[in-house]
Amino acid sequence: MLRHTPVLLDEVLQFLEPGPGGRFIDATLGAGGHSRAILERTAPGGLLLAIDQDEPALAQARQDLASFGSRVLFAHSNFREIASLAAEHGFLQSDGVLADIGISSMMVDDPSRGFSFMREGPLDMRMDRTQSLTAADVVNSYSEKEVADIIYNYGEERRSRPIARSIVRSRPLQSTTDLVRSIERVTGGPRHGHIHPATRTFQGLRIYVNDELKSLEEFLDSSMSIVRSGGRVVVITFHSLEDRIVKRAFRRLEGECICPPGLPVCGCGAREIVKVLTRRPQTPAALEQEKNPRSRSAKLRVAEKL
Ligand SMILES: C[S@@+](CC[C@H](N)C(=O)[O-])C[C@H]1O[C@@H](n2cnc3c(N)ncnc32)[C@H](O)[C@@H]1O
Repeated sequence: MLRHTPVLLDEVLQFLEPGPGGRFIDATLGAGGHSRAILERTAPGGLLLAIDQDEPALAQARQDLASFGSRVLFAHSNFREIASLAAEHGFLQSDGVLADIGISSMMVDDPSRGFSFMREGPLDMRMDRTQSLTAADVVNSYSEKEVADIIYNYGEERRSRPIARSIVRSRPLQSTTDLVRSIERVTGGPRHGHIHPATRTFQGLRIYVNDELKSLEEFLDSSMSIVRSGGRVVVITFHSLEDRIVKRAFRRLEGECICPPGLPVCGCGAREIVKVLTRRPQTPAALEQEKNPRSRSAKLRVAEKL
């Protein structure tokens, strides 16, 4: 059984068009579903650089993809480093790059990672467990205002202030269950037909702990610099904050100035270096959504280097 079903797989392959001898980068290896499909289609002779910041995912994928031998190279890193990784491993002028952002099902399902409000575990939430900052540091040592801002800005939680107050009053918080209780003191318990009241707070903390939005911004610019002319960058996101970043970055890379109106000089660095192939994001078909509920919020955007 697959540990993580690759989302929008047909669409990814349709846009990346991997063929024999191709050179691609999977910036978010995860359980390796997309990587495997690319490796199968680039035989013989194709190469794949597979990046992930989660060491357990890399260790597992190394085993699962062992039959591809030296056609796949693995790198434990944040994908914001894609340009130096590509240079180091001989992947400059690649045919295409894929990023399927966010956390994997393996991470959500492992209580010891602390990503899920449905499972009791430590307040960790680090994708890269070699980094020092954890969710426990944030909820137990940041000021009430800082906690509220994180939950508001990255979780889009409208009740960020009372929730932050409740978190600070509940200190020290040890586990995901402690955090859920402190949130539910404000919101009440889960209600049928509504998202779980802890969803947005957990999302905000996770995005902050992993510096996800900045990483994505840096990745988008860098990945364009390492694909060949005609090469494509395919990005799948799972919530509106990320999709907005991809949409805006692609517009800027298409040469459209995205500065706020009224600025005397353009400061966003708009320069026409790509053509966007997805005016509207692609979303999973009804059948995929039914088979894999995690795919429901997925949005895929593609840019082609000029
Ligand atoms: C949704 S999963 C990818 C699933 C994969 N496409 C598959 O088919 O199995 C996302 C993966 O991206 C990794 N990831 C997320 N942000 C990252 C970043 N900034 N740098 C490197 N890896 C990242 C996570 O650790 C996770 O393993």
